[in-house]
Amino acid sequence: EKTKSWKKLVNVSVSGAAGMISNHLLFKLASGEVFGQDQPIALKLLGSERSLQALEGVAMELEDSLYPLLREVSIGIDPYVIFEDADWALLIGAKPRGPGVERAALLDINGQIFAEQGKALNAVASRNVKVIVVGNPCNTNALICLKNAPNLPAKNFHALTRLDENRAKCQLALKAGVFYDKISNMTIWGNHSTTQVPDFLNAKINGRPVKEVIKDTKWLEEDFTITVQKRGGVLIQKWGRSSAASTAVSIVDAMRSLVTPTPEGDWFSTGVYTTGNPYGIAEDIVFSMPCRSKGRW
Ligand code: LMR
Repeated sequence: EKTKSWKKLVNVSVSGAAGMISNHLLFKLASGEVFGQDQPIALKLLGSERSLQALEGVAMELEDSLYPLLREVSIGIDPYVIFEDADWALLIGAKPRGPGVERAALLDINGQIFAEQGKALNAVASRNVKVIVVGNPCNTNALICLKNAPNLPAKNFHALTRLDENRAKCQLALKAGVFYDKISNMTIWGNHSTTQVPDFLNAKINGRPVKEVIKDTKWLEEDFTITVQKRGGVLIQKWGRSSAASTAVSIVDAMRSLVTPTPEGDWFSTGVYTTGNPYGIAEDIVFSMPCRSKGRW
């Protein structure tokens, strides 16, 4: 501690903390993948009565991993306790969909969770808390959450569409026969649902427009779009449960994009609250679009 100057502890609250996504995510957070090797963190884990025992197990595993950056692990089922002073709230806990179900069908059950959690964040979280909504349907849930948190900045609420961005980049890279890191400027427009538009017109491969590199227009207009839109559903058919590891990776990517200045000329996709008709999009909804960050948080 004498040779290294540590930053102030960052509080990260995670709901659905006993679930599969969190099981991948928490260990990444604790190892410094998001905030770097000089940033100690506290993990505050929210579960349900049903998952409390499992949550105790998760906490045990985190503690036994002896992460130098992980200074506190707390668990509980009351969002008013677990969200206290949260600098980040990663809202994962929700009923997932099964095979053949659309995400919108979950709204009845999950909407209530996000209303309650919005109220709790409004009451006890850091006034500058960044909220990433993962539970589906995530755009609508993010809107419900921010509407229930009127004292927090609406611009701090995000619906996770980074998973779709990553999926789109993967498909373009495979088709073009290049490595993933050569794909940039990948926008996901709209909802994290089958209505989303993965934008191959503005995306680039090695700095060139996609259409100059991939000449197969039919593939771009039909196969590419549908593959990205339906990727989550196809995965559920194969796995019998929804994506977990790749979702966790995309949450890390989304957080890193917010805490690091966006490279010149590039952008990332995230669902944000719309004001002032950005790109002609309706106001007062949560919509995924290209965003840049100055990296201050
Ligand atoms: C995904 O896209 O993998 C997640 O939203 C889970 C789902 O329901 O598809």
